[in-house]
Amino acid sequence: MKVAIFGAGRIGKVHAASIRMDPRSELIAVTDVMMDAATALAQEHGIAARSADDILADPDIDAILIASSTNTHSDLIEAGVKAGKAIFCEKPIDLSLERALNVRAIASTHDKPVMMGFNRRFDPNFAAVKAALDAGEIGKGELLAVTSYDPAPPPVSYIKVSGGLFRDMMIHDFDMCAFLFGMPQIVMAHGSCLVDPDIGAAGDVDTAVVVLTYADGRIATIRNSRRAPYGYDQRVEVLGSKGTLEVRNEIENTLVTTTAAGAIAAKPVYFFLERYMRAYGIEWSAFVDACLDGKPVPATIQDGVNALALAEAANQSLASGQPVTITKAMTGA
Ligand SMILES: NC(=O)c1ccc[n+]([C@@H]2O[C@H](COP(=O)([O-])OP(=O)(O)OC[C@H]3O[C@@H](n4cnc5c(N)ncnc54)[C@H](O)[C@@H]3O)[C@@H](O)[C@H]2O)c1
Repeated sequence: MKVAIFGAGRIGKVHAASIRMDPRSELIAVTDVMMDAATALAQEHGIAARSADDILADPDIDAILIASSTNTHSDLIEAGVKAGKAIFCEKPIDLSLERALNVRAIASTHDKPVMMGFNRRFDPNFAAVKAALDAGEIGKGELLAVTSYDPAPPPVSYIKVSGGLFRDMMIHDFDMCAFLFGMPQIVMAHGSCLVDPDIGAAGDVDTAVVVLTYADGRIATIRNSRRAPYGYDQRVEVLGSKGTLEVRNEIENTLVTTTAAGAIAAKPVYFFLERYMRAYGIEWSAFVDACLDGKPVPATIQDGVNALALAEAANQSLASGQPVTITKAMTGA
């Protein structure tokens, strides 16, 4: 399967490595609006940097991988559909829910796989939670707790174009809740600016808790912070009628030093590149499975719309101080 990457930034480089790792896929072109970035990544892989139009018009290219800035995703999905390519797109679909719904409608007419980059579904730890839950190992899951703290906040210049914490950061956690428990009915959000006053001045929060309530009474909580001085804190716990499932952090090493003063263990790995490297590889192989073997797409464009609808509801709830009900109009499903 021949693949071209749009966007040669942080995550584009990670995906280029995953494409190379899977013997069934071959990276043959890279494009970026910053031609230097495209050329550097292309050279690393011994291939050519090409223009977007050239890639889309090339019948030898089976799939495009969209790893460009968020505000370009929906236009590129549309262009990929028109060009008849299979599409893998990083999260989120768009910052506008309306636009995302529109793109979903366009993509629904496409006969090739369109997959969203919700990498955490492919993390072996979280995938094991899903498998155990579905197998009924803890009975019926009733209370879900997702913890997601970044090690340090991004620059305020990034915050200003990110779409805010719910669309940019918590989108992964909304997807995790949807992955494990399905779509909730009610969203209640609380947020504060505790880490960096400049984030507050830019109109965003850096610390937030969201409670999701399901039609059958199940409850999920998500806790986000832009700062955890000890590293990337990524945990999930599910309480069920017969027990709990718990995923702890992956740590830098397994040494535990015990002295009369107490026990010391290593801290969590630093950030997403360290924590989710295995997940990105498994995620890419799942996309190749969908393209070549006709397997179901494991993170669909509808999943992308659902997560964005939850982010939109969280923004509304934070602004109004009231719970927000998820309607069919918000998800289109
Ligand atoms: N799933 C994950 O774990 C994860 C992690 C990081 C980023 N992301 C997402 O991936 C996307 C990229 O993030 P990043 O951190 O790599 O950003 P980045 O800024 O490092 O890279 C983005 C690149 O896209 C290029 N670009 C912009 N417009 C383009 C266009 N029209 N065509 C081609 N290239 C274009 C930019 O010049 C830049 O080189 C964002 O949407 C982000 O939300 C996902």
